[in-house]
Amino acid sequence: MKKAICMKTAIPGPKTKKLQKEWHKYEVNACGYQANVVWADAKDCLVTDVDGNTFIDWTSGVLVTNVGHCHPKLVKAMQETAGKLLNNYECPHPWRIEAAKALMKKAPKHMGKCFFLSTGAEATETAIRMMKRKSGKFEILCFECGFHGKTSGSASAGGLTGPKKGFGPTVPGVIRAIFPNPYRDEMGFCDGDPKFTKYFNYLDSVIAANSVGSLAGVIVEPYQGAGGFIFPPKGWLKALENWAHAKGMYFTLDEVQAGYGRTGKFFAAENEGLKPDVITLGKGIGSGASVSAVIGTDELFSAFGPGEMSSTLGGNPVATAAAKAVLEIFDEENLTENSAKMGAYMNKKLKAIMKGCKYIGDVRGMGLINAVEIVADKKTKAPASADMIHKIIDGCAEKGLLIGSVGKFGNVMRVAPPLTITKALIDESCAVFEEVMKSL
Ligand SMILES: Cc1ncc(COP(=O)(O)O)c(C=O)c1O
Repeated sequence: MKKAICMKTAIPGPKTKKLQKEWHKYEVNACGYQANVVWADAKDCLVTDVDGNTFIDWTSGVLVTNVGHCHPKLVKAMQETAGKLLNNYECPHPWRIEAAKALMKKAPKHMGKCFFLSTGAEATETAIRMMKRKSGKFEILCFECGFHGKTSGSASAGGLTGPKKGFGPTVPGVIRAIFPNPYRDEMGFCDGDPKFTKYFNYLDSVIAANSVGSLAGVIVEPYQGAGGFIFPPKGWLKALENWAHAKGMYFTLDEVQAGYGRTGKFFAAENEGLKPDVITLGKGIGSGASVSAVIGTDELFSAFGPGEMSSTLGGNPVATAAAKAVLEIFDEENLTENSAKMGAYMNKKLKAIMKGCKYIGDVRGMGLINAVEIVADKKTKAPASADMIHKIIDGCAEKGLLIGSVGKFGNVMRVAPPLTITKALIDESCAVFEEVMKSL
């Protein structure tokens, strides 16, 4: 079978080297560690760099291109719309109306309406405003290692120090609790008790010690993305939702990363039959177009009147034409089903690689989101050094695989290809990953 990977130069290639030098003469060098590759074009699961090398992509950008890079239907919808109308601000246009209709057709039945924005952080800010405004209260329960964006309010809700360090005090009213982590369960919160008694006793004591009686809501990711692809034990999210509702709090599920088929269900909420009051969406909803959204119950939206929700570029014609095209592609190509099927296949292959590798401490996943946690020692679970992680990223790139890392310790490899990936591409890319891991 013909290989998809095609390497023509060493990495970085000559054109890449030249462009990278240029880049930071003009734009600040403040991005994270990535493979030494300057992207030129991409199609489906393959990325080609400026030197003509073709890679299999396990990043999907950063979990964005769920329908595959530059899907022809998505590109066509954006190009056609760009030639007709580029901006509108609050004035309606057919693309926005059609996209809202399509999104609400797909949304969980208890949801009332949606609203289009541009980024995930903007969706987080909006969800928090919705919960505060409707409840008339100001405290939000959030989680250690959570990530919801880098604007002031969304970073304050997050539980990683990186986005907050050096900027002074964060937004008050955030109460933060531990997110149960089955691989690093120092507190014994994942002890198998289906009622999570130990965890909710702890949470009650966190609230008793920190709340001044103004609890508006909870914001939580279905699995923690930037925190290290941490999947809570089965049933915990439902128990959390029930706990919040019993306390009269609203419940926001941040599906910016987990939504749109990534976990093997269209909405991650479906995995445990959750009924959130707000779902935030971003990344895959545009699969490359700058669009995000909130979906909420009528109850929550009822707190907003005319002129109280807007965003200069939110819901613009090109973005919403893209959002509608993406929804159609999902249905036409059964991408959610492919995510569940290919994700399970990939998980099995990664677990087999783990067996033969002394540096892989854990492999976990759901659908086409898999995490490979790299450790210095399997017994102590000490996180691998940045040096080792960079070696993996660079080693994979040299052999034609694009991969990135995340996590509180930066030691979790992100395995998140577009949802269109095939068995053949999984086999080819896993062979590269295994070779690199064995070479360490
Ligand atoms: C769960 C989650 N929420 C929110 C965001 C913020 O999205 P954006 O970078 O589009 O503002 C991210 C981004 O990684 C995310 O993973």
